[in-house]
Amino acid sequence: MDIKQIIEKLTLEEKAALLQGWSTWTTREIKHLGISAMFLSDGPHGLRKQAEKGDHLGMGASVKATCFPTAATMANSWDPALGELLGQALGEEAAASHVHMVLGPGLNIKRSPLCGRNFEYFSEDPYLAGKMAAAYIRGIQKCGVVACPKHFAANSQELRRMSMDSVVDERALREIYLTGFEIAVKEGMPRAIMSSYNMVNGTYANENSHLLKEILRDGWGFDGMVVTDWGGDNDHTAGVKAGSNLVMPAPGANLARSLVQAVRSSELEESVLDARLREMLPVILETAEALKDAPCSFDEKAHHEIARRCAAQSIVLLENDGILPLTKKSEVALIGDFGAVPRYQGAGSSMVNPTRLTNLLEALTCRGMNLVGYAQGYSRTDPRPQPGMIREAADMAKQAEIVLLCIGLDEISESEGLDRRHLELSPGQQELAEEVCKANANVIFVLSGGAPFRIPRGARAIVHGYLGGQAGSEAMADVLLGDVNPSGKLNETWPLELEDIPCYDYFPSKERTSEYRESVYVGYRYYDTAGVPVRYPFGFGRSYTSFAYSDLTVNEECVSFTLKNVGDRDGSEVVQLYVSAPGKLLFRPKKELKGFAKVFLKAGEEKRVEIGLDDKAFRYFNMKTNAWEQEPGEYTLSVAASAAETKLEGRLIIAGTDAPAPYGTLPDYQTAAVDKITDAEFEVLLGRPIPDGSWSGMLTENDAICQLYYAKSGAARLVYRILKRMNEKTEKRGKPDLNILFLYNMPFRAMARMTGGMVSDEMVADILRMVNGRFWGGLGRLIADFFQNQYKNKKFMRQLEEAEHG
Ligand code: BGC
Repeated sequence: MDIKQIIEKLTLEEKAALLQGWSTWTTREIKHLGISAMFLSDGPHGLRKQAEKGDHLGMGASVKATCFPTAATMANSWDPALGELLGQALGEEAAASHVHMVLGPGLNIKRSPLCGRNFEYFSEDPYLAGKMAAAYIRGIQKCGVVACPKHFAANSQELRRMSMDSVVDERALREIYLTGFEIAVKEGMPRAIMSSYNMVNGTYANENSHLLKEILRDGWGFDGMVVTDWGGDNDHTAGVKAGSNLVMPAPGANLARSLVQAVRSSELEESVLDARLREMLPVILETAEALKDAPCSFDEKAHHEIARRCAAQSIVLLENDGILPLTKKSEVALIGDFGAVPRYQGAGSSMVNPTRLTNLLEALTCRGMNLVGYAQGYSRTDPRPQPGMIREAADMAKQAEIVLLCIGLDEISESEGLDRRHLELSPGQQELAEEVCKANANVIFVLSGGAPFRIPRGARAIVHGYLGGQAGSEAMADVLLGDVNPSGKLNETWPLELEDIPCYDYFPSKERTSEYRESVYVGYRYYDTAGVPVRYPFGFGRSYTSFAYSDLTVNEECVSFTLKNVGDRDGSEVVQLYVSAPGKLLFRPKKELKGFAKVFLKAGEEKRVEIGLDDKAFRYFNMKTNAWEQEPGEYTLSVAASAAETKLEGRLIIAGTDAPAPYGTLPDYQTAAVDKITDAEFEVLLGRPIPDGSWSGMLTENDAICQLYYAKSGAARLVYRILKRMNEKTEKRGKPDLNILFLYNMPFRAMARMTGGMVSDEMVADILRMVNGRFWGGLGRLIADFFQNQYKNKKFMRQLEEAEHG
């Protein structure tokens, strides 16, 4: 039967029921028409298929799978080919577990280093993020498994992530927040995409036809299925109209009923349901067919080796005065809890149950390293300095020739559902670093963490493994001992101070809107243009060897130059191409990444390197013409070793398009004075008044549970206080409790999306009545609506049963 015939045979109830999940991880099956259920699983850096009952946030154990380095780590490799290899291994594991769709990669832009989920995202730069994501997608889909890049779009903060309105001007949206997705969709061709929780300019991403129809489907040619984030649906009918196909996880029958009702009342045409099914059913049926005979196992050892290679290629050498690489003879003390219990992935829905895990202590011992001892140094669950541990560590440091000090972000610092408030390490780690550096002059910091933090001073070398996955410690040993030349470069800028971050004043936004006032000035685009000094620039990383760049030629198709390894070790160099636009017609960042390559050269070897210029090289988005345009004039093309180290420069005249200037002069945007942007200037970019984001006096279905402090009902405020206390307690324990964090940020409407049909939208309205001060009236209605909902859902389920059994 072809898709058309299947759709003709489906009843209205079946059509509606197919557009939402059946369980936490599966879609609905319709046996009599041969539509099987699809199994969906996280996540971006390894498979998280829950063995028992699903709970979506990784509380229940999942089957063992290879834990690869997280996206933030892999982006430091600047190596899409390696990303594709990782994707393929991930796809093989998914196929072996009969998982049809992998929920990833995640490629939101790191607007602020404080976003709790940055470890799951690739970069502050859309070009790098897009190229890496496209590679993962190609790899995953090679195995017949569907990739589902996420979260589309402008989802860059965790606080109130399910109801925040990202207020962002169209140019920044296109140039910064969507370009990565554009590359991922056009070059990776994913068969699914996940809409984000938040609103984008006043409309939920999942109901946003500008995003889903005009841009994604009509503009980029996406023909797959759009899946909501878990609990992310707001108005199912609006979502379906806008081009969203599947609500997840399992909202029960009441959402399907809402679609049937919408068709019956002519609010929604049945042909729209058919259109969504025409997009979704081929993905379900073809994937089921592709995985039918998939092998049930994978080569665990080989995948572990891929994880190790990925981690090794992503390690960034930040400082080195020549103390690295180590020799096996050096007498080394290993200090820091992360040396014995690695931090190798982040918390939340992406958490993988690894097939094996080594720590640095074992990895160095296996390699025959001369270790004088190990000291814990700090507690990762108690941030305070631990005097006994510090004393022990300093004493050990005194006895060693060299100290490897393992520090970085601990578990509570970075997690889904939680944004950081500062850039500091725990006081315990800071004091330890100070004391160890006083005790020994040869200290090497070995860092872990998925986002920038303030690194103490005093080390002779700093090497950063980010979150290296299950083989991260072995990879670190490879680099420390010089078996692998470090070649990773930072996917993001490391600022000096918290206040230097361009969205400092607006992140994380606490009420209903998050104003992206900094517009296109994200990451290096800001620091560079405004001349703000940083700790480490975007694209930065040292090496044990060195490279010489020469003989640049440029034309409209490509740049080429000669790269020579002038050191005495083999190694790779990440070369970057930045383009600076004339910036006469409109304000522009000083330069933007438009190409890159990772080149391996033996010691003394040289190669001609070519980097192509694609359709993104000279374009900007013009809100007046509502199109991509090119500014006419002279462009500078810089071949660079990082955003702060240009090696070669060429110029090119581009005829450009004839578009009018999109706006007049905006002096603060011209100079990237992001802290001075006035309302009037931001409104020019937005093309509309800034929406009022303040709380309006009544809690609505889209306010989050953490806003219960506004409730009129004392009982509701008590619930808030209890939840807040529970949250604070888990923070103190140093281990994020994802269920509490989820609840905390969850809007009221999500109760009707996450309870398997037990709670309806009407019941949410009743609860809000109670919360807003009409307690008894609300309670009465709640009880009545509960029984109504049960009755209607049962009736609906009976109709489905009848259709199934004829
Ligand atoms: C996360 C998604 C994830 C989903 C399923 C959500 O809370 O935002 O990234 O894929 O849960 O676990």
